[in-house]
Amino acid sequence: MTDQTPAPFAGPERVLSGVQPTGDLHLGNYLGALVKFARLQHEIETLIFVADLHAITEWQDPSKLKNQVREIAAAYLATGLDPNVATIFAQSAVPEHAELAWVFNCVARLGWLDRMTQFKDKAGKHKERSSVGLYTYPVLQAADILIYKATKVPVGEDQRQHLELTRDIAQKFNNDFDAPGFFPLPEALTQGPGARVMSLRDGSAKMSKSDPSDQSRINLTDDADAIAAKVRKARTDPEPLPETLEELASRPEAKNLVTIYAALAGRTEAEVLTEFAGQGFGAFKPRLADLAVSVMGPIGAEMRRLLADPAQIDCILADGAARARALAAPTLAEVKRRVGFWAG
Ligand code: TYM
Repeated sequence: MTDQTPAPFAGPERVLSGVQPTGDLHLGNYLGALVKFARLQHEIETLIFVADLHAITEWQDPSKLKNQVREIAAAYLATGLDPNVATIFAQSAVPEHAELAWVFNCVARLGWLDRMTQFKDKAGKHKERSSVGLYTYPVLQAADILIYKATKVPVGEDQRQHLELTRDIAQKFNNDFDAPGFFPLPEALTQGPGARVMSLRDGSAKMSKSDPSDQSRINLTDDADAIAAKVRKARTDPEPLPETLEELASRPEAKNLVTIYAALAGRTEAEVLTEFAGQGFGAFKPRLADLAVSVMGPIGAEMRRLLADPAQIDCILADGAARARALAAPTLAEVKRRVGFWAG
């Protein structure tokens, strides 16, 4: 990849992130991403979108997709995003994302994409049967971010590689088109204990929407009984909780539950161990279940309330799309001019 020292970006700080409307949101999405959106909106200009263009890299039922988008929007609102503060919109309503992605497809190198682990994981053994969109997915993600010249991207740990690619694309564009500092080199915000929440059934696998077992995750829409049952059945080991993080490190399932507790309580893992060291899971799990119910329960209830009025959600998304387009259009116009397009 390029080795020049990048020219500094002179524009304002801006936050951007998105979630795909491809299934029930879970605790990993909440702790890795959503919870940060609500916090950041009060510090830096924030744009949060629903990634429906990304969703169709794998088959989505057209009769359901619009509602799936509304569900993610409802989750954003229920977790504290304020449409008067943050810009909330659907990706497909801002065509500038896809247009910039085409230019970036011609900037990114095949070798860079060949290294993307998410494509390898999702495509599995039969990559020739995957959509081309799944392969170029991270290029569209770079366009999502750079069309707004966003500088900070709150995401879970699994998105780090896509952010590195975004920086490589930004830097190569700036070099190739003699545009030093035109695009920023955005930073992934992955701090905090919830950046990588693991499956409740397997401490070595990430909590995921696509895991066939619903017991592996706590969904944002699970009711109190379901949350408590999933925590109770979560896989653990027979040892009591240790005193130190070093001892915890070799016990993936125990570590995951301690991490979840810490993230939900807004504490560090070390603080959680100080409180629970020496106690078995028989004592720890009910406390974790109570905490999870107290945090997640109201979110699910608020989502259900919001989804009862889809027209209001559509209104928020339409307003957000208009605001987003007003920011995206000048960037795209400048890109077209620099690339030398006839229609630039
Ligand atoms: P998606 O929909 O897969 O996930 C949404 C967010 O949830 C985070 N996440 C997790 N965090 C912690 N532990 C987990 N087990 C866990 N599982 C998921 C993801 O890291 C993500 O932050 N490619 C993105 C969507 C996207 C995007 C973007 C994000 C498209 N364009 C531009 C940022 C900027 C994704 O796969 O989301």
